[in-house]
Parts: sequence; C-alpha cells; structure tokens
Amino acid sequence: MKHRSPSEQHHGKHPRVADGGAAATGTQQDGMEDRSPTTPRELTQNPLKKIWMPYKNGLPEKHISQRKVCMTNCPTLIVTVGLPARGKTYISKKLTRYLNWIGVPTREFNVGQYRRDFVKIYKSFEFFRPDNEEGLKIRQQCASAALNDVRQYLTEDGGQVAVFDATNTTRERRETIVQFAEQNGFKVFFVESVCEDPDVIQENIVQVKLCSPDYTNCNTDEAVEDFMQRIKCYENSYETLDEVLDRDLSYIKIIDVGQRYLVNRVLDHIQSRIVYYLMNIHITPRSIYLCRHGESELNVKGRIGGDSGLTARGKQFAKKLGQFIQTQSIVDLKVWTSQMKRTIQTAEALGVPYEQWKALNEIDAGVCEEMMYEEIQEGYPLEFALRDQDKYRYRYPKGESYEDLVQRLEPVIMELERQENVLVICHQAVMRCLLAYFLDKTAEELPYLKCPLHTVLKLTPVAYGCKVESISLNVDAVNTHREKPENVDVTRMSEEALITVPAHH
Ligand code: F6P
Repeated sequence: MKHRSPSEQHHGKHPRVADGGAAATGTQQDGMEDRSPTTPRELTQNPLKKIWMPYKNGLPEKHISQRKVCMTNCPTLIVTVGLPARGKTYISKKLTRYLNWIGVPTREFNVGQYRRDFVKIYKSFEFFRPDNEEGLKIRQQCASAALNDVRQYLTEDGGQVAVFDATNTTRERRETIVQFAEQNGFKVFFVESVCEDPDVIQENIVQVKLCSPDYTNCNTDEAVEDFMQRIKCYENSYETLDEVLDRDLSYIKIIDVGQRYLVNRVLDHIQSRIVYYLMNIHITPRSIYLCRHGESELNVKGRIGGDSGLTARGKQFAKKLGQFIQTQSIVDLKVWTSQMKRTIQTAEALGVPYEQWKALNEIDAGVCEEMMYEEIQEGYPLEFALRDQDKYRYRYPKGESYEDLVQRLEPVIMELERQENVLVICHQAVMRCLLAYFLDKTAEELPYLKCPLHTVLKLTPVAYGCKVESISLNVDAVNTHREKPENVDVTRMSEEALITVPAHH
C-alpha cells in the first residue's frame, strides 16, 4: 500500500532489515548493540501487530516495530527506456501502484511533468528537436531536478523504490543515471519498452497523449501529427538496450507489448518480483466485476466472520446477480469465489462454472470470530480501540490484519492481471483490499472503503487508471460498514466506541 507519510528515516547506503528480521538478527546496522548470542533479550508482544520483539528497560525497542516490508537491502531506481508513446508512463504508474500495494514504498518521477511545470505552455515538437539547444538545456535541467527528488525520496523520505519515467534513449544518458545511482548507493533496474506496431502506437497517442495538457488547444489531427514528429526527434539517437554492450546492466526489455521479453541480470528479490509482474500484465480491454456474497445469516445478526449460509434476501441477490451477468453479455467470463459457504451459495445461483480460492476467504478475526462488535468492545476493549487506531496494521489475536490479507491476496491480483473478464464474489475486507489495488488507495483509506452488500462494482481499465461503476441490484440488505469513530483512545467510554456500529437484529 501507499505509505504517504513515512515515519522513519533511511540513509541510502545503509542496508535495511525487514520488520521482524531486525528483531531476529539485531545487527549493528540497525543501531543496535552487538551482543553475544548467549544473552537473549527479553521479548514482548507488540499489541497492535502481535509480533514478538525485544524490549529494554521495560519499553519495547520502538524503531524495530516501525519498520516496513523490505525486499531489497538498498533502494532501487527503476529507469524506463523507450521512444515516446511506448507505454512507459503506463508501466511506471502501474508498477508503482502494485509495489505500494504490496507494501514497498514507491514513487514515480515523470520528467515530462517536470518539463510541463517548468515550461508551462507547450508550443510544438520543435522543443524536442535534437538541434534545439534551449530545449535540450531545459530538458536536462528537468531530468536533474527529478533525480534530485529521487535522491531525497530514497535517502530521506523512506522510499524504497523510485521510478524515473523518461525516454532515456541514449547510452550516454543511461550512463549518467547509473553513475548517479552508484554515488547514492541505489541499485538500478531498466525497463525498456520496444514497439513498432503502428496500431499500438496510434492507440496510445489517442488514449493518453491527446488528453495531455500539451494538447489542450489543438485539434486531434494536429495533435497526432505533432506527436509523430516528436517521436521522430528521438529516433536518430535512440540506442536500444543491447545484449552485448549492456550486458552488465540489470534490465527487462518488453517487446511488442509483451509478445516477447529479454531479461538480464536480475539482482534481487524486488527485481524478480518486478519482472514477474511486468510479464503478467496485459492491455487487452476487459472488465473486472467485484461483489460480496449475498446477505448471510450472521450479517443480519451483526456478527463478524463465521461460515453461515445466505438469508432469503441473500438468495434473492444471488438470483439477480445471475440475471445481471446475463444482461452484460460478457465474453468468456470467469467466476471466482472464496471457499466459504456464502460465496459458493451465491455463485451456485448463477448456473455457470466457477473456481474456489482459499486466498479469497474473509479476514480471519481470530478470537473475535462470530462476535458482534458490541461483544468485542465488551470482552476486549483494548483490542477494539487498537483496531480503530490503526485498522490496516491491527492483527486480531490468533487472526489476521488487513496487511496480512493483502499479502494473502497477492496471487489473486497477479492472476486477475493475467485474466480478462472476471467476476470475483468475495467478502467485505477482501473486496476492500482488491479495490484498493485497482483504485490506488492508501493503507489508511483501504479498511474504510465502502463495499456494501448486494452491489456490484464494475472496474474497467482506462488510460492510466480504472473506471468504476457501482451497480446496486436493488435487494435490501443489512449495513455492515462501521466508520472509524472519533474517539479511538483506549480510555474511551463504551458508547463512544460503539457509536458507529451499524444497526442489526
Ligand atoms: O461483517 C461482515 C464482515 O465480512 C466480517 O466477516 C469481517 O470481519 C468484517 O466484515 C470486516 O469488516 P471490518 O474490517 O470493517 O470489521
């Protein structure tokens, strides 16, 4: 997930250790004393995440508990390469969204945006001509400004991955970036997109370039013509990543929008995840339909979790869902459910084949399973308050957190990326996690996303994002959404803790 307000400071050249990993190793790089392995420290359990950690003088060693997921021991700079209109920004944005969602703080730095902020009014492709000295100077300044911000992000602001989105079409330019990265202790991974299919290029120009602020004041034909000229400005000096000349670099070359790939020198876990992700995404138009199961017996009682069946209204929704799917005439629709009775009962009513995923099961509320929020407040008031304080990271005793759920759902997201039209029948917390991925929501927003019963969300990829349509199937259902209450303090009164609990039997 996006971590927009990092709570820790990192310094580029220092190795980082993952959450929990620090507790296990206690290395000097973490600012912890070097101890003999024969003197184990006392352990205490972090009340929010339920992770065991050492403590000193009666207090937990705070800096350990605050660490984030870390998959690389030094920050990574991803550098795009390719002519204009080859999908570099699409790849940058999508990859950034994915990495944030899996818990790796990532930010993209689009040099085109720096140029727009600097020049304000775009006149024509002439700006990009290789013999336009003024243009060249400005473009270089913009690239430097972006790299400065990259440095700040990766060394001061807790970022782990920065995506430097620019053409970077010459070997000389790439060499400068490699040097910059070496000086700062960053690893570099290049992502090149090569495509000569005129239809793909034309489609890209129409889909994203014509909406760019560069072309607000001209007609479509003029804009397309100007953009084609702009591409030409780079063609002569373009040097593609070369198997021999660039053999020492780490890179993936994506050829013809994923028809073929060339992968070189993958150095670590994060680079291999990036490669795996980029090899699974596609741009074929499709829609993903997300919904929850029909209303369940436990839903109406205001009880969380469990494995109950559908109410009469839940069954009615299942029937209507079948009708809705038919009206959509969706080509080759795949239907996925969890392994819980309520989603399977919902899918059964559709009369089409479906696949069950254990990974889609609802969040495990551990000792709170099948309890009402009121009972949790009564029996575990501290737990209830801690959850309100940080709902994303809070882990139920003997259960899961939303953070755990995101990790469990990663294979589902990867497979959704591979597939075309899919209907996912899932659960409230699971649907929030999936939705957060598609809509690029932060860890703070995610657990409060509204996913009402008996409502289908249709997600359709557009340009750099996703269009969402919310379709209510008009079957009444109980509300299961509990807003964050104003008072989240452990000393709050019961009434304050329960003020946002939705009505139920
Ligand atoms: O109430 C229905 C439900 O799906 C429960 O099974 C689950 O624990 C809960 O929603 C998740 O929502 P929240 O995280 O807001 O409690």
